Amino acid sequence: MPLKITVIGTGYLGATHAAAMAELGFEVLGLDVVPEKIEMLTRGEVPMYEPGLEELLRKHVAGIEGSSGRLRFTMDFAEVAEFGDVHFVCVNTPQKHGEYACDMSYVDSAFGALAPHLKPGALVVGKSTVPVGSAERLAGLLPEGVELAWNPEFLREGFAVDDTLHPDRIVVGVRGERAEKLLREVYATPVAEGTPFVVTDYPTAELVKTSANSFLATKISFINAMAEVCEAAGGDVAKLAEAIGYDDRIGHKFLRAGIGFGGGCLPKDIRAFMARAGELGADQALTFLREIDSVNMRRRGAMVEMAREALGGGAFLGKRVAVLGAAFKPDSDDVRDSPALNVAGQIHLQGGQVTVYDPKGMENARRLFPTLGYADSALEAVRGADVVLHLTEWREFRELDPAELGAVAAERVILDGRNALDPVVWREAGWTYRAMGRPSA
Ligand code: UDX
Repeated sequence: MPLKITVIGTGYLGATHAAAMAELGFEVLGLDVVPEKIEMLTRGEVPMYEPGLEELLRKHVAGIEGSSGRLRFTMDFAEVAEFGDVHFVCVNTPQKHGEYACDMSYVDSAFGALAPHLKPGALVVGKSTVPVGSAERLAGLLPEGVELAWNPEFLREGFAVDDTLHPDRIVVGVRGERAEKLLREVYATPVAEGTPFVVTDYPTAELVKTSANSFLATKISFINAMAEVCEAAGGDVAKLAEAIGYDDRIGHKFLRAGIGFGGGCLPKDIRAFMARAGELGADQALTFLREIDSVNMRRRGAMVEMAREALGGGAFLGKRVAVLGAAFKPDSDDVRDSPALNVAGQIHLQGGQVTVYDPKGMENARRLFPTLGYADSALEAVRGADVVLHLTEWREFRELDPAELGAVAAERVILDGRNALDPVVWREAGWTYRAMGRPSA
């Protein structure tokens, strides 16, 4: 009999994991405590924009014509415990309000609600990103005969489906052989396709996730620090990144300078990691992450100053600023800690008339920043603008026609906060093109 799997929490991580498990051939029951989410998922609708996820979901959700019927959703923890052999906990661990530490309340309530119903022999698998030491504590909340494993997830938004079905590596922190055996069964397909399967203890598995994200954040802030030096010295950070990236010990990935990292993971994960290291008496080991965070936040301010300078150096009052991009990265509608919206918000607070356009993030942006101006297209955002800021590198923006935009802008000045547009094309169309960390023409 194939294993039966449940997934608790159906956000980015859980919805994708549940659909992927059904794709791998398992019977899956997903649980969420938000009724609207369950209703949407049951209709085969995804509550966020994630390429390929809705198709995968519709391929498996029971009741949808032509589906495998292997995927269902519920709000009932007792039903989940009764149904599953392996229970994946995929709930959110956001940053605590006003603190660096991670808010474990969703994880704690998921364990609290599930534990009393579990049958001996069940395996609970934590996937959420948690402070090191959490697995040890959570294992103590489970009844006799129920094992816990920690299996961090490395998916990127925008590539969630592919990252889940074809991960770079599978990491499982386990205590007993049985947990490892069950997880080898769950992940048999990707492992057979060559995905490395790394077995560790609990703390190492938890740390793999936070250290991987810290490394990525460090790489981005490193190149952004080089951008600051390039700006001071008249160098070109894009050329610098290209050149150092040819050393394959360094590599080209995650070396795009600009307004820095945002989203629901990297910023809060490095902060929670610092907070946890402090509790463990290892704060010195991670003081560098504070610098990584400050370089990152500084770039948002630098973008605001670049815009001010482009407008003549004075106040933003009465100036029209077009902002292309609201999501924290392309191919996502996620605006959590979005550098683009942060820059737009700062300029707005200083009196600028800001008009934002994003291909998918508008609804979330409007909800979070209702006082900003919004347009339905890039062209409409740029109409009458004194300066254009390119802040999220959607393909749609790379394919814009600079001549068409130039015809409606008040001034042909574009500032590339993502180093992703082609300077030659924009300059040839009569625009003043400037990018972070690069010399003016
Ligand atoms: C990240 C990790 O990549 C993923 O492995 C983990 O599971 C969750 O956190 P995600 O938040 O989806 O994924 O986005 P990612 O692609 O890592 O980008 C994060 C931010 O860094 C974005 O704001 C992006 O614009 C920025 N970034 C990325 C840069 O500024 N420069 C780069 O070179 C790369």
